[in-house]
Amino acid sequence: MSVQSSEKAPINRAKFATNLGVLAATLGSAVGLGNIWKFPYLTGSNGGAAFLLVYIVCILLIGIPVMVSELVLGRAARSNAIATMQKLAPAKQPWWLIGAAGVLAAFMIMAFYSEVAAWVFAYIIKAIQGGILSTDPNVTKAAFGDLVSNPVQSLIWQWIDLAVVGFIILLGVNKGIEGATKKLMPVLLFLLILVGIRSLTLPGAGQGLAFLFQPDFSKLTAASFLVAMGLAFFKLSVGMGTMITYGSYFRDDQDIPGTAVRVAFSDLAVSLLAGIAIFPAVFAFGYKPDAGASLLFLTIPSVFASMPLGGFFMVIFFILTAIASIGAQISLVEVPVAFLQEKFQFSRQKASIITVVGIAIVGSLAALSNSSLASAHVFGMTFFDLFDYATSNILLPLGGLFIAIFVGWVWGYKKLNDALSNHGTLSNQIIIKVLYGTLLVVTPILVAIVMLNGLKIIK
Ligand code: PFF
Repeated sequence: MSVQSSEKAPINRAKFATNLGVLAATLGSAVGLGNIWKFPYLTGSNGGAAFLLVYIVCILLIGIPVMVSELVLGRAARSNAIATMQKLAPAKQPWWLIGAAGVLAAFMIMAFYSEVAAWVFAYIIKAIQGGILSTDPNVTKAAFGDLVSNPVQSLIWQWIDLAVVGFIILLGVNKGIEGATKKLMPVLLFLLILVGIRSLTLPGAGQGLAFLFQPDFSKLTAASFLVAMGLAFFKLSVGMGTMITYGSYFRDDQDIPGTAVRVAFSDLAVSLLAGIAIFPAVFAFGYKPDAGASLLFLTIPSVFASMPLGGFFMVIFFILTAIASIGAQISLVEVPVAFLQEKFQFSRQKASIITVVGIAIVGSLAALSNSSLASAHVFGMTFFDLFDYATSNILLPLGGLFIAIFVGWVWGYKKLNDALSNHGTLSNQIIIKVLYGTLLVVTPILVAIVMLNGLKIIK
């Protein structure tokens, strides 16, 4: 038998059992803190509606094509991200490096993402205690400041989050990933709608809606294009092997383009709902929309403070945000776990523990970025900001660029068509042709231009 264990048939390779399960897991990966935390604050600090439009273009021309590519590659190879690229690439071509960059990106995203999830966990307790239930910006700002500047709390909440995520991963693909996401997604939606209605009925809500839906293109800069593209990658969990890994659990009869489109639009709908829940309240309570990363933790408590039974609903809201973050985190953690299991024949338990401990170590750099390590800067950024910037604006777009080039130019139309039509059983020829053309030319050129321009390499 060959020594190259990543090429072996993997042990216990599971599949998502039902269509609903596939949708819940994939949407569970896409929907997360990205919608409720990142989307509102990035839209807020990049000028609102004009940014939203650029973001939607990025989803259509970049996000969906790359998502379809990843899913179909994973399903074709039925392997982890690295082995998938190894199996499908022509001999001696180092395409597996894309998979390896994905595993690295998963660690870096988890490092800061688990810390934001940690704040959400801490806010569940703060909400229960009632201290943040205030419409006074000074009170909510102080509560958030106290939390992030406390190193012990920052670390402990991060470990609690990682323990929860590790536990679900241990339960496996069906019971853990599919089981958890299927139950939790609908509840999250319901609550977001409820908060949205309250926010919209606050006096002065109109200004927030105008901010979100009336574009002012003078606010766009080259950097905001990079941010919008980075957000599209981050939101749809693409460019780093998550969707390759999840695709490897898809059944052969699953309609991949259909699933990707449904996931992308549902994810956008959740982001818009979060925007509708947050911006009217931002203006109504006199916050600035460009407050940055703390926006969610300042405005949401104010919305709840101004509604009947607000204390109760705020607890539920933060529990659900934590849950949304968990669906995304298990998909991130699954990338290295699947790799370790298949490459080294580790048990799921061993692979999960090694991964979670590794994340806790790297993650401590991000957790302490507002306290003990606040003055440690790399390229002018704290570790938290560096991990965020390097993944969204560099690693994910680069991964996406090469995945598009691989599918368009190396794998080619014949294989793509065969795989996406489920060997001719789906009649989706037109969609496949449009996708192929986009992957061949539009996606790579767009990603390359936006990246080089945004990173100030070309002007
Ligand atoms: N899509 C998730 C969110 O928006 O919160 C974050 C994420 C998950 C990014 C998985 C990347 C990834 F591979």
